[in-house]
Amino acid sequence: MKILAIESSCDETSCALVENGALVLSEIVSSSADLHMKTGGVVPEVAARKQVESIVPVIDECLSKANISDPEKEIDCIAVTVGPGLIGSLLVGVEAAKTLALSWGKPLIPVNHLIGHIYSNFVGNENQDEIIFPAIVLIVSGGHTDLVLMHDHGKFTFLGGTVDDAAGEAFDKVARMLGFSSYLGGAELSKSAASCTNNYLLGSLPRPMIDTQDYNFSFSGLKTAVKTLYAREKPEVSVLSCEFETAVVDVLVKKTMKAAVEYNVATVMLGGGVSANRHLRQRMHFEAEALGIKVFIPPINLCGDTASYIASAAFYNNSPKSLKDIVANPSLGIMDVV
Ligand code: KG4
Ligand code: ZN
Repeated sequence: MKILAIESSCDETSCALVENGALVLSEIVSSSADLHMKTGGVVPEVAARKQVESIVPVIDECLSKANISDPEKEIDCIAVTVGPGLIGSLLVGVEAAKTLALSWGKPLIPVNHLIGHIYSNFVGNENQDEIIFPAIVLIVSGGHTDLVLMHDHGKFTFLGGTVDDAAGEAFDKVARMLGFSSYLGGAELSKSAASCTNNYLLGSLPRPMIDTQDYNFSFSGLKTAVKTLYAREKPEVSVLSCEFETAVVDVLVKKTMKAAVEYNVATVMLGGGVSANRHLRQRMHFEAEALGIKVFIPPINLCGDTASYIASAAFYNNSPKSLKDIVANPSLGIMDVV
């Protein structure tokens, strides 16, 4: 089955054609991140306008890259991200998908973006049959930090999430505080942390909620602790970045492994923008290996927002819905059925 998927939840406009949930026939991503760097944060109105400009060229390019000349004959189904995200951005993708579904006479499948991130472990993965259910999944993005138990495709139990800032949000806020890029500086902070050869601040920052019995997280206080430490001791930025990154990774890895042991799973999966973090990837593999657990982490190009895993999520989880029942919902949570 060939699914054409559209993703437009924030500042990326993406379209992909994927066969049977795994084989990517073509994938195009256009980002407006450069524009948001100038303003130090995403301006929803600007992101939405850019979505309007990009959506048709991106879909066109995706079709021509896959040599699709007659979509009505060559495509089976359309999928689209309906939330969470920015309402203006989401609406552009949802309305474009509805228009295509109507004009080509194809079914349309709505997809929860957060579930989409999980499927970045399935799409293009030749070893996906090694993913054993039940599995523990950690989604770490700019807006969400969620730990879920995945019983099977479409069957999830929520274990915990952040009670304040998401992990990516904390990375970005601390990056701004330390003088890195004012928009999505998390990756820059991580690069600086990698250049630190001696973390003489080790243990100076708190590891919030690391020993609580639940599976919740909190990163807001950590940000304040960085601010205080920076003002008080004026450490090298690379060392403070390293200590901050280590604190976040310590908490994420410990809670993920605790869940893996408690629920006796053989597989752990990561997803979301922060799963591109080098330190998190290494530590997750290292700790899981010691417990005999297999970890799946998407390749870097599938950590951010892109349509190929939206197609994969649609293939494995959702059924088509009537067009009038498919609506953009900016505040969807990971457990919300679409
Ligand atoms: O999943 P995503 O692309 O967008 C959302 O759906 O939110 O995640 C973006 C987040 C941003 O906060 C960004 O700074 C963070 O992922 N991020 C990183 C790294 N690369 C991206 N955080 C830490 N280390 C990285 N290497
Ligand atoms: Zn995302």
